[in-house]
Amino acid sequence: MQPSPLILGIESSCDETAAAVVRGGGELLSSVVASQIATHSMYGGVVPELASREHLRNIVPVVRGALDQAGLRYQDLDALAVTRGPGLAGALLVGVSFAKSLAWALGKPLIAVNHLEGHIHAVLLEQARQPGFELRFPVLALVVSGGHTHLYLASQDGNLWSYREIGHTRDDAAGEAFDKTAKLLGLGYPGGPVIDRLSKLGDPKAVRFTISQLKHADRIKRDLGHGPRFDFSYSGIKTAVLRYVETHDMAAAIERRRLAVLANPRPSVEEWKSLCDAETLDLVASFQRALVDDVVGKTLAAAAEYNVATLLVSGGVAANSELRSSFERRGAEQGLVVCFPSRPLSTDNAAMIASAACPKYFAGDFAALDLSAAANLPLR
Ligand code: KG4
Ligand code: ZN
Repeated sequence: MQPSPLILGIESSCDETAAAVVRGGGELLSSVVASQIATHSMYGGVVPELASREHLRNIVPVVRGALDQAGLRYQDLDALAVTRGPGLAGALLVGVSFAKSLAWALGKPLIAVNHLEGHIHAVLLEQARQPGFELRFPVLALVVSGGHTHLYLASQDGNLWSYREIGHTRDDAAGEAFDKTAKLLGLGYPGGPVIDRLSKLGDPKAVRFTISQLKHADRIKRDLGHGPRFDFSYSGIKTAVLRYVETHDMAAAIERRRLAVLANPRPSVEEWKSLCDAETLDLVASFQRALVDDVVGKTLAAAAEYNVATLLVSGGVAANSELRSSFERRGAEQGLVVCFPSRPLSTDNAAMIASAACPKYFAGDFAALDLSAAANLPLR
């Protein structure tokens, strides 16, 4: 039997400073996430310079908090793992520099993890704990977050995982579309959770949105041995919401709502109902329905094309209730096993980084101490 290494994960790629301890890749001993939502919400999106500053402020207490929660000391750890990329360069640098210094000071190995691989392993971390769960291949992984909408065929060779990208967004990520649409409608930041809540109060069939379908020269690619692609595009739907707002005279009500949400960033359901008229709620529900239908439809088409047995859905947008229920219902119709992380592990966290690092620990895939952050790191 392989030993169960204790790995401390550190994540700082965007606007969450996080640390967690995971034993043997699947046993979560602690997870601490310091969110910067309050810092960025007044700007309606993440401000990179502010994010770096907040990471610097938070990293020491967050790492100490993760060790305390796990009841461990630094010396108990077998390895450290850190997000190398992709993400905001300045934000990544805080985590990478801190992890390198700590690994050097402790004399422990350091493991570099791709943030997207972390999201994928957030699903496996939790599934591994389900009795009798056995991962069936081929596996398709959808990472759907504020910065990414990516589809990967994932394979495992011994301890090592590899990924082949078969689709990505050509412009905005799905979470970005949620955030920008929420900003446009004066709903605050981040947009996903609030649109998720408000969509339950509106009619998703009220407004018809069409999402651009990208044509691929699939046959030519197949002839070259590449197989078909399933790309996404979500900048158009945000523009369609803007046109709707302009042609339906909604600007004054949006500005009133924006100021109200600035003053009270966490309205209750009752307060939301008084801040949003029926037309706004219908618009929000219709936006979510169109986006979810597109993400789910393309992903399931890719799963069918590649004869996939298991679909792993992860990233912040995987917390969306309509996306989850749609995947569960339509996936089951297709005979597909669809797995999600719990909601706290859907958005950015460090448990997923520590978990993704475990196979690399067994493979001896350690980073040198001249490791640098890589803002555009691809997943392979
Ligand atoms: O994975 P994540 O924490 O950070 C990135 O790696 O980007 O994802 C954050 C994104 C944001 O765009 C946020 O609006 C979206 O996830 N999000 C949601 C929900 N919760 C978070 N989108 C839709 N529905 C949700 N419930
Ligand atoms: Zn993420």
